[in-house]
Amino acid sequence: KTRVVPVDAPPPGDFPLDLSHRPRRLRRTEWLRRMVRENVLTPADLIWPMFVVDGKAARTPVSSMPGVDRLSIDEAVREVERAAKLTIPCVAIFPYTDPGLRDETGSEATNPDNLVCRAVRAIKAAVPEVGVLCDVALDPFTSHGHDGLLRDDVILNDETVDVLTQQALVQAEAGCDIIAPSDMMDGRVGAIRLALDDAGHQNVAIMAYAAKYASAFYGPFRDAVGSSKTLTGDKRTYQMDYANSDEALREVGLDLEEGADMVMVKPGLPYLDIVRRVKEEFGVPTFAYQVSGEYSMISAAVQNGWLDGDKTVLESLYAFKRAGADGILTYFAPKVAEILRSS
Ligand code: PBG
Repeated sequence: KTRVVPVDAPPPGDFPLDLSHRPRRLRRTEWLRRMVRENVLTPADLIWPMFVVDGKAARTPVSSMPGVDRLSIDEAVREVERAAKLTIPCVAIFPYTDPGLRDETGSEATNPDNLVCRAVRAIKAAVPEVGVLCDVALDPFTSHGHDGLLRDDVILNDETVDVLTQQALVQAEAGCDIIAPSDMMDGRVGAIRLALDDAGHQNVAIMAYAAKYASAFYGPFRDAVGSSKTLTGDKRTYQMDYANSDEALREVGLDLEEGADMVMVKPGLPYLDIVRRVKEEFGVPTFAYQVSGEYSMISAAVQNGWLDGDKTVLESLYAFKRAGADGILTYFAPKVAEILRSS
C-alpha cells in the first residue's frame, strides 16, 4: 500500500494522524541528529587571519573589530602556538605598515625584510607545523590605499603584476606556504606561478582570491591595516561588481588555468550562492572569506546581547560548509576551535 498524504482530512481530534512521513523522527535525539548530519565543521576547516604590527609585546585593539588586536611579531607567534594547540591548520598574516613606510608605489611590499616577511620567518621558526598564508596586494603599503600602482587615476594592471610577482617572491623566500593574491589584477596568478617555479618554489601553493567583490564589508579590515583613511575612491575597476555571478565563474576559470591550486570567494555569507556555483562547476578546493565586516556585524550584536555569540558563529560557519566550501577564513577561528573542542 502506498500512502503519501492522507486523502481525506481526518475528523478533528482523531489522533494519531495517518502520516507516511514524519521528518521529525530523525530530529528526536542528539545521537540521531548526529547520525544523519550532512556536514561537519572541524578546526581543519579554519584559516585564522591575523594582523601584525611593529613593536614588542604589544597588542593594539582594532576599534571596529571588537576582540581583534594588531599583534607584534612575538605576540603573533604566541597566537600561532595557540592555533597549533587548537589544531587550526593555517594562519593568514596581514601587516599594519608604519605610515612612514607607505609610498605611491608600495615599495615596502617587496622589501625582503618587511613586517610580513619578518613575521613569517618568526612564525615558521617557532611553529613550523602550522601553515602560513600571505596576501599579495599593495594596499597595506601604498599611500593611496589601492591594491595596485596608480597613474592618472587609473590602477595599472600589467605594471602592478610585475610588483606583485616580486612581493610573492619575497614572501615565499621568507617561508610562506600559500601565496594568496587578493589584488584582482588580470594575469597575476600565471605570472606569480612562473616566478615561483623559476625561483625553485614549486611547492609553494597559490590560493587565488578568484571571485573577490568590491564590497562595503571590507571596511573594518581597512581600519586594521590602516588604509581606510587614505583610500582614494573605491576599488570597482578591479574588484567585481556584486550584481554579477556568471563573471565569478569566468574569473575562477582563468585563475585555475593560470595555475591556482585553490580558489576563494569573498566576502562570505552574502556570497554563498557564488561558493555553491564555483564548487559545482570546478570541484576544486574552494574557500570562502568571512570578512571583517561580517565579523564586526556579528560581534556588535553579540556585544549588545542581541545574539548568542557561540551559536551564531557556529551556524554561520556551517552555512559555508553547506554551500560547499572546503574551508573558511574567519576571525572567529580560535573561538570556534575552542567551541568545537569543548562540545
Ligand atoms: C587586500 C585585502 C582586503 C581584504 C583582504 N585582503 C581589503 C580590500 O580588498 O580592500 C579584506 C578582508 C576583510 O575585510 O576581512 N587587498
